[in-house]
Amino acid sequence: MPIVVGIETTCDETSVGIVEFLGQSRKKNKKIPQIRELSLVILSQEIHSKYGGVVPELASRSHLDNILSVFREAVDRAGIKLQDIDLISVANGPGLPGSLMVGVNFAKGLAQALSKKIIMVNHVEAHIVSPLIENDIPFPFFSLIVSGGHTSLYLVRDIGNYEPLLKTQDDAAGEAFDKIAKIFRLPYPGGPVIDSLSQGKEPIFYFPDVESEDFSFSGLKTFCIRTAKNWFGPFPLPEFLASAQKKIVDELFRKTVNKVSEISENFPEPIYIAITGGVARNSYMRSLLLKADGKIKFVFPHPRYCMDNGTMIAFLGGLRNLVFGQLSDLKEEINPTYRLKPSGGIG
Ligand code: KG4
Ligand code: ZN
Repeated sequence: MPIVVGIETTCDETSVGIVEFLGQSRKKNKKIPQIRELSLVILSQEIHSKYGGVVPELASRSHLDNILSVFREAVDRAGIKLQDIDLISVANGPGLPGSLMVGVNFAKGLAQALSKKIIMVNHVEAHIVSPLIENDIPFPFFSLIVSGGHTSLYLVRDIGNYEPLLKTQDDAAGEAFDKIAKIFRLPYPGGPVIDSLSQGKEPIFYFPDVESEDFSFSGLKTFCIRTAKNWFGPFPLPEFLASAQKKIVDELFRKTVNKVSEISENFPEPIYIAITGGVARNSYMRSLLLKADGKIKFVFPHPRYCMDNGTMIAFLGGLRNLVFGQLSDLKEEINPTYRLKPSGGIG
């Protein structure tokens, strides 16, 4: 069965995933083949932690230093020989130009040296379809991507057919976590730190709502700075962070459910909302939404598939090639501002 290598270097994770496409289709979504992950290596660059955000020059240098050993480790763990690889899939955008260059040039070199096929895929699309790696979800379903760079809700009618429904009008949800952490001098990335400091804490602070249809998170920073500045006595930081976390999750939940309810009146039930991207690792969000009952079913990919990872790139590249016959050639380049074509089949 075809073996696909996925290479991910769009931001601050150097990752290689190797998957095998198994022929049989699933029960609910017959179009999507089953896959087996043979290995996944994710190296999260820690060098950015003290800078409060990703430093592009350091990110590309670190990808360059590590890509070969991450690839070798993935091949070793998968127990395959290089010649067993059938297809190389790489994310060529959107992302940081220097970081994308490392992944794309590595993938091209590999394709050329091994005489293998190559396909370049969109990183955001890989997040959108990542819930299908392990879950049998029928089309159409809703995919909410909540990461450091993107916060958008899509209606997924098919592979390649994504209707954008909501987006953020300012910061992404992950960016809001990161900026709040920076205000309180906590390390980058802020999401996991706020998540762990909030464990078991009461969200006693009230954050005002933003009345817009789209998501909005930029007001949170001002509220954080003002509250901390005007506070007398020891500041109850964990309770404050738990409140900020609750606010971000509530904002995502409320606006997503409103929009989905509006669109899905005639959809067969249950209605699936898959939540992906780094913020989907948040434990408060997972515990809250997994408990949700009713006609909407929330699906969370495994936490390792929520963050940037090579398996989702291998999965999307494999789908596009094996199911739809798509391929790239070696002349194709990085596309740092790569936008998804909203709909209209395989774009
Ligand atoms: O999808 P991702 O790994 O990279 C991007 O494509 O951006 O997402 C990274 C973002 C960061 O902003 C990080 O703070 C956030 O995901 N994040 C979390 C958690 N883990 C990562 N946010 C909230 N709670 C978490 N547990
Ligand atoms: Zn991402």
